[in-house]
This record gives sequence, structure tokens and C-alpha cells, in this order.
Amino acid sequence: MPHVITDNCQACRYTECVGVCPVDCFHGSADRLYIDPDVCIDCAACVPICPVKAISDSFDLESGAEALIELNRRRARELPVVADQCDPLPTAADRRLALGY
Ligand code: F3S
Repeated sequence: MPHVITDNCQACRYTECVGVCPVDCFHGSADRLYIDPDVCIDCAACVPICPVKAISDSFDLESGAEALIELNRRRARELPVVADQCDPLPTAADRRLALGY
């Protein structure tokens, strides 16, 4: 089962995850990223590095895992690869605080 990005990424977009990904499976819109589940090799290198715990093994999700995988797949196909780390969004610090991290 692939790793997925949850809504925690929204308004954060820290992009620390892309710096450790060996297969460039991250795609992004202006406000968050998605993982292409057909490219992700489940190395899990990105999981501990996300400041807002936005990345999970889909096995670890209590419910809605299939829908989240499909959302990540669909959006990854619509959006360009994000391979370079960049500054977080201006809203990231407030969003991180609101999420409790
Ligand atoms: Fe999003 Fe976390 Fe990556 S906030 S861009 S999944 S480091």
C-alpha cells in the first residue's frame, strides 16, 4: 500500500518531503502536494521529515484510505512533479500551530 498525503499539507507545503524522495513521486498545486501511488516505492523516508505529519502509510489510516489513495493518484496525474524543496507557504506557521505541531 502506498504512502499518501493528507489534508494536513494544505496551506503548509513545507516540501521537506521532496528533498528525501528517491523517485520524485510528489506532485503539487499552489497550496499542497500529492503522492503518485504508482511511483511511490514505500521507502517511508518522507514520513518523519514532514513538520505537520501530513504523510502516512495508507495501512495506518483508520478509514477512507482508498479514497485518499485515489485522490492522490488523480491529483498527481493532473499536477506537475515537485522535485525541489522551496519555502513553505506564508500560512504554514499558523496552520502548523492550529494542527498542534
Ligand atoms: Fe506537505 Fe509535509 Fe511535504 S507539509 S509538502 S507533506 S513536508
